Amino acid sequence: MTDTNIVWHNYKLNKNHRAAIKNQKPCVIWLTGLSGAGKSTLAEALDRVLHANDYHTYGLDGDNVRHGLNKDLGFSDRDRVENIRRVGEAAKLMVDAGLIVITAFISPFRKDREMVRSLFEPTEFIEVFISTPIEDCEKRDPKGLYKKARAGLIKNFTGIDSPYEAPEDPEINVDTSILSIEEAVKEIVDYLQKGGFLSAPEDIETPSANT
Ligand code: ADX
Repeated sequence: MTDTNIVWHNYKLNKNHRAAIKNQKPCVIWLTGLSGAGKSTLAEALDRVLHANDYHTYGLDGDNVRHGLNKDLGFSDRDRVENIRRVGEAAKLMVDAGLIVITAFISPFRKDREMVRSLFEPTEFIEVFISTPIEDCEKRDPKGLYKKARAGLIKNFTGIDSPYEAPEDPEINVDTSILSIEEAVKEIVDYLQKGGFLSAPEDIETPSANT
């Protein structure tokens, strides 16, 4: 609960000034999907392409944030809600600093993603559903976690014994079992170009994510 004696201070130097010198319109690109769907890989590839084209970005990733800011949180429903709330607030500060923020969190609950959306101006929150089917995620199993979850060694694993609520109307939908990472990056870059988030859209280069 916010203390009634705390008054918001409106600084003269604001988001628009910070964004203007970065030649971009700040936003949060919110990747959501199952573990193993390709969120972190796509986030990193997108980050590298934007950075290589002189845009100012920052990535927030579930596995990494859970080593620091959110290291006190587990995977109960309650902890996941708090995880997403904190990440939403951190992303909001970064957008206020003028950055293009890329987040990679399962963020399984629709209500929480909508709560984060409500923190931003209408066009600033770009929900990207990584809709890779669970069968593919489980086949990839990059961290061996599905195997452990199936063996009952991990409880509350998303898609197995904890729910994932797919977005109903995401701004972008990419299935990495169909699209390559380069193609998925291009979909997102196209969206940013069309939405006027990038100052020099005609010059963007999308080199291979592996280079
Ligand atoms: S979220 O549900 O709270 O949004 P978050 O994206 O931060 O999850 O973390 C997910 C990552 O934690 C997964 O990619 C996986 O590596 C790891 N993990 C460990 N335990 C679980 C679990 N029970 N369910 C899902 N992911 C888990």
